[in-house]
Amino acid sequence: MTTEQEKRAEELRALIKAHNVAYYDNDSPTISDAEWDMLMRELIGLEDQYPHLRTADSPTQNVGGTPSKIFSPVTHRVPMMSLDNAFEVEALHQWQSKLERKLAEGTKIGDLVCELKFDGLAISVRYEQGRLVQAATRGDGVVGEDVTHNVLTISDLPHVLRGAPPILEVRGEVYLRRSEFQKLNREAKKSDGKEYVNPRNAAAGSLRQKDSSIAATRNLSFWAYQLGEVKEGPDLVSHYETLEFLSSLELPVNKNAKLVKDIAGALEYIQEFQEARDSLDYEFDGIVIKVDSLPLQQELGNTAKAPRWAVAYKLPAEEQVTTLLDIEVSIGAAGSATPFARLEPVFVGGVTVSTATLHNEDQIQEKDVRPGDKVIVRRAGEVIPEVVRPVLSERPENLPKWEFPKNCPSCGSKLERPSGEARHRCNNYNCPRQVRGRIEHFSQRTAMDIEHMGEQSIDLFVSEGLVQDVGDIYSIDFQLVRSFEGFGDLSVTNLQKAIEESKSRSLGNLIFGLSIPHVGRTNADLLATTFGSMDKLKETSYEELQAVEGLGPVIATSVHQFFRSPDTMKVLAKLESAGVNFQGPEKIELAQTLTGKSIVVTGTLESYNRDEAASAIKDRGGKSPGSVSKKTDALVVGVNPGGSKISKAEELDVPIINEEAFEQLLETGEIPN
Ligand code: IVH
Repeated sequence: MTTEQEKRAEELRALIKAHNVAYYDNDSPTISDAEWDMLMRELIGLEDQYPHLRTADSPTQNVGGTPSKIFSPVTHRVPMMSLDNAFEVEALHQWQSKLERKLAEGTKIGDLVCELKFDGLAISVRYEQGRLVQAATRGDGVVGEDVTHNVLTISDLPHVLRGAPPILEVRGEVYLRRSEFQKLNREAKKSDGKEYVNPRNAAAGSLRQKDSSIAATRNLSFWAYQLGEVKEGPDLVSHYETLEFLSSLELPVNKNAKLVKDIAGALEYIQEFQEARDSLDYEFDGIVIKVDSLPLQQELGNTAKAPRWAVAYKLPAEEQVTTLLDIEVSIGAAGSATPFARLEPVFVGGVTVSTATLHNEDQIQEKDVRPGDKVIVRRAGEVIPEVVRPVLSERPENLPKWEFPKNCPSCGSKLERPSGEARHRCNNYNCPRQVRGRIEHFSQRTAMDIEHMGEQSIDLFVSEGLVQDVGDIYSIDFQLVRSFEGFGDLSVTNLQKAIEESKSRSLGNLIFGLSIPHVGRTNADLLATTFGSMDKLKETSYEELQAVEGLGPVIATSVHQFFRSPDTMKVLAKLESAGVNFQGPEKIELAQTLTGKSIVVTGTLESYNRDEAASAIKDRGGKSPGSVSKKTDALVVGVNPGGSKISKAEELDVPIINEEAFEQLLETGEIPN
């Protein structure tokens, strides 16, 4: 009788084997590494729980590939093993305790070496009498294939080693730098050749060429990280010494290997390199943690497949394959229509992703992604998930191209793409999506910062007709809101308070909050400081706008049009009558350091003309009369001062200060000694 578990184990064995052939033997994986890991994990779990399911030919008991027939077989004198994986921090602690249970009572595993797990191909390079004589792939771990002719083209790898023992096998990773990978794919694209999916596959494809002149053009690289067979070598006692030894022979050893005291140290290392992942010119998909002491490594030994003394902590995959279910268009607060991908949810870069940006029409054309495609999704670090490209080999026949919708998905009005712009837009100011978007935008922290005005409240207020534009926020009928479900007394009071507080935000915040097309935070501040008040900005001519340094013609046009619109005028009238601040930033943001103080200026200052100096004082709450009296707190003296003011000040014991001290006075309100 076959149980459910037996059936599943058999299924998993067959699946993994098929994927192994695609990955190791044909260099064209049909699933992502992470999906493979998931299958493998499930099988390991089943076998751990039901040991009778662990068959001798299970992929859990064997190292990945089978040697191909194209290249001559090479039997490894020391087997090339695989590594056990850890996917969670907890698994690292378990690894440590398992090892310590295996060792004599009280023995600790001691120091650990952390290395990057390079995403390339393991090879073994054999030097005899210091000469590179053979290089072989891992194959099934026992028999690999001879790729000497291609490995000889790797410029990192010396053909002759000075001071090497008579027999020395160096184990390490052949890889392709990201920069080389991009170059290769750029050229492939130009000549309509095959583009590689990732640097690992490109490196594998290059090593598996009969003709070594191809590998020679690919600029492959190599990192050495282990020894295989060695005769008459130095007496090494630790792995870290092994790395130093390899390095002393001028073999390329990655500088990021680090000796740490314990798992806590390894976790710090993981953290550090997880963050640095995108900044290096080569890919790594995990961190390898190795017991440093070689005698302890000996004592711990190996399982059938992997050494016990090492473990690979896998970092979340940054690229995954998933299905592009559909392409939809979202309408922003200012009406811009942005296409995005609806995806079959997929775990990538450490989170589950179900949508990804597609930027604009041209990008979709260029990438040629179509709903129904299998696509590669990338999320690196904190970056927004992105659809990289379709997997063309998986494209169903006759899959139609995607076309940008003619109409706004929210209000149905025509979408237009202004000439010279990459974006389509919906020009209906009353489009419900835009209305919601504008209110959301207005309320966000970097605009009017209305706490408690969440998406759900906004949806409700808009759908109940309480708010149609941002001006309505200030006249919401809270009596009515209290009757809505989910709005308790406290939440209503909090929201009311937050709305009230938002009235005093700076002019820059308000301008930004209005969702003027093309006006971001920086330009909003620029407009606020240039024009000083909403009333002035409203009346500004196109010419005046264009004359503002840093404001391009697109923004100038957009701002000008915005303030010509009757819709805008209605909103501004509501905001003004609600008492929202319409005045320039200086008065609001400057600390009132000079309240009650009287400062007189004489002579020419370097950074202020007469009016500017007076404004600087007044804007901080002070007074700036034209003559010195006993009420004067300080006399600021520039070049060519009026003599009478100075003598008056001396007479009345009024402090006399220079421009530098004036700056400090403005800032602190204190007269420096
Ligand atoms: S040590 C017997 N160190 O990972 C120990 N392997 O999953 C053998 N790899 O076949 C491996 N970076 O291709 C080791 N710093 C590193 C590595 C590394 C990448 C690869 C190697 C190996 C595979 C095991």
